[in-house]
Amino acid sequence: MSATDDLLQDHIFIRRLQAVIEKCYTLLYENKDVPFGDLVKIVDMIEQFVDQFHHGKEESSYFREAESKDHYSEEIRKFVIEHEFGRRIAKGARIHLEELLRGRDAREPLARYLKTYSVFILDHTSKEDRFFTDIKEKRSLSEKEEKDLKKEFERLKHECVRKSGNLVEVLQQLENAEWAR
Ligand SMILES: [Fe+2]
Ligand SMILES: [Fe+2]
Repeated sequence: MSATDDLLQDHIFIRRLQAVIEKCYTLLYENKDVPFGDLVKIVDMIEQFVDQFHHGKEESSYFREAESKDHYSEEIRKFVIEHEFGRRIAKGARIHLEELLRGRDAREPLARYLKTYSVFILDHTSKEDRFFTDIKEKRSLSEKEEKDLKKEFERLKHECVRKSGNLVEVLQQLENAEWAR
């Protein structure tokens, strides 16, 4: 698999998380309960998989390589700004989750931040899907560049598993939770 395909695959995984997030904020808005443990898992997944792992891969290696090709730098600049926006929403979700865990009534603001994050995921990944597909079609990255990036992604994946455990399993647990079905 090429590095570009790897990032497109991540997007499919991230949109599965989006479906869980959507279910979660809908229930919170309806004043129904989602187990605290699962709320923690959702916010952890946002921070550890989407932000640190996936956006990390894009920012620390892929975008740097693509920046110099086919006038992609302007588009990349916008993606990085969107990542920063996503980070702020994730921070808001974390703050209100902590409040809720401390017994305060933070259900509404948590639902609102999760909804905003869900919209961010759909908007951002669809724009990047078009961008990555363009790179693939134009073969803007050489085979060697794709291979070297993929190697770096593997290293980052090992690092992520060591730090955060198996996040694929965590997403499966969330998808199979009673409330999410
Ligand atoms: Fe991105
Ligand atoms: Fe992405």
